Amino acid sequence: MKAVILKDFGGVSNLQVTEFTKPIIVKGQVLVKISALSVNPIDIKTREGKGVADYITERPVILGWDISGIVEESSSPDFEKGDEVFGMNNYPGHGKAYAAYVAAEANQLSLKPGPISHEQSAGACLAALTAWQNLTTHHHIKKGDRVLIHGGSGGVGHFAIQIAKVLGAYVITTSSFENRKFVLGLGADEHIDYKAVHFEDELRNMDFVLNTQNEFIAERSLFVVSAGGTIISIGSEVSEELKDKATSLGLNIFRTRVRSSGSDMRKIAEMLEDRSLKVHIDSIFALDEIVRAHEKLSGGKTVGKIVLIP
Ligand SMILES: NC(=O)c1ccc[n+]([C@@H]2O[C@H](COP(=O)([O-])OP(=O)(O)OC[C@H]3O[C@@H](n4cnc5c(N)ncnc54)[C@H](OP(=O)(O)O)[C@@H]3O)[C@@H](O)[C@H]2O)c1
Repeated sequence: MKAVILKDFGGVSNLQVTEFTKPIIVKGQVLVKISALSVNPIDIKTREGKGVADYITERPVILGWDISGIVEESSSPDFEKGDEVFGMNNYPGHGKAYAAYVAAEANQLSLKPGPISHEQSAGACLAALTAWQNLTTHHHIKKGDRVLIHGGSGGVGHFAIQIAKVLGAYVITTSSFENRKFVLGLGADEHIDYKAVHFEDELRNMDFVLNTQNEFIAERSLFVVSAGGTIISIGSEVSEELKDKATSLGLNIFRTRVRSSGSDMRKIAEMLEDRSLKVHIDSIFALDEIVRAHEKLSGGKTVGKIVLIP
């Protein structure tokens, strides 16, 4: 089968499209013939030997976690041959998604909603789970909460806006001016152009901030949250010094990491099905064009998701 192996941690030239042995499933797994997959910034960090590289001991490394496809063989009572499924396989671990076939953990998948294309459902895995888990599990958004989402036009941000609205929040989001219409179209109540103004000069009384950006933005977010409020930072570490600053202001700040979960994927599937959650696809590449996909994502200007077709 076709696969992309990572010859060594490092630059894009280490991504090699090759013929590789089709995986063999074990109990609890299904063999998925991949129709579409998607890339995330963690793929790039891990390719460089950072990210979740330490979790992957087997060689060769096959990057990627987000898959959508058709079950070809099942060793799980949950799915049978022919089922259309999607999910984030084995994160944080060896996802092996950059391939024509993936041996996927059945309990980390959901049935794909019929009317949703594989391209769209592949886009709604890691990024959608991250938004869902942070807004409903690590923190519980309540109706009427004032929520700030940094980077509302990105993979995670565009799902987080929509999910926060489903949960009844008042949503303010940052992006460049070019993406203002896009984020307001997703349901955001207010937009802040991060290039034109400092958000901390404009905002007060936020209950919750989802920081998809760096630690400097996490620190600046301290100024906009009410006492008792929470900042979750997913894009960077939260230093002890920053935690101390937050504590002295009566705020909570912490970092989270998304986890594979079949039950959370089923929630995503429900929202895709009832159209309360939509996937915006920035671009679609062939798996052969993996280098171009990594280079585009590294540019930091992706709107929604980049999808690959094997
Ligand atoms: N901890 C976890 O579990 C977890 C899970 C998922 C993702 N992450 C991390 O979260 C980060 C975001 O992931 P992603 O998939 O959303 O990335 P992404 O899709 O690559 O994000 C791109 C978006 O970021 C926006 N952006 C760039 N600079 C910005 C700034 N200063 N303020 C506001 N928006 C800005 C861009 O908007 P403009 O084009 O309008 O500038 C662009 O739309 C990455 O570092 C990723 O590794 C962590």
